[in-house]
Amino acid sequence: MTVQPVRLFDDPILREPAAPVVDFDAELRQLITDLTETMHEKNGAGLAAPQIGVGLRVLVFHPDLAKGELGHLVNPVVDFPDEEEQDGPEGCLSIPGVYLDTRRRMNVVAKGFTSHGDPVQIVGSGQLARCIQHETDHLDGVLFLDRVDGDRRARMIEAIRQAGWYDPAAPPVVKTSPHR
Ligand code: NI
Repeated sequence: MTVQPVRLFDDPILREPAAPVVDFDAELRQLITDLTETMHEKNGAGLAAPQIGVGLRVLVFHPDLAKGELGHLVNPVVDFPDEEEQDGPEGCLSIPGVYLDTRRRMNVVAKGFTSHGDPVQIVGSGQLARCIQHETDHLDGVLFLDRVDGDRRARMIEAIRQAGWYDPAAPPVVKTSPHR
């Protein structure tokens, strides 16, 4: 059993920048297996290592089961080939049950490494591009609510406060994204 508990909204590890992977070893490959199995168990489109309590720059994605776009990236760096944007619903396994329209870039070119240390590049659009941006944000301690403005953010915070899993003893910290 390699499905791991997913850290929730007020867990401090979700706000810490993750460290680059240095050793491409069996432990890293086990981490990627754990991430993939946890993502599938929770019906997620993607998952980043900090979400299962590991502060390393590793993410997995599977935004469209039908298209078979299952993959992983180690030490990802995301570039945008153009200015095109998309706006649509986004959610996060660390903020269960909350979905709000979030503006993202439409197209990404993500460079990183495989579990064996081989360089890899992923060119993605639409949901795959959204997923890679969301998961890479996690590696920088950024949550998707940081990308949501004004009324949308207020609705999101209200929804979190009403959520059954939210602990009022540890209120949410909402910060403004440094990336806009
Ligand atoms: Ni997330």
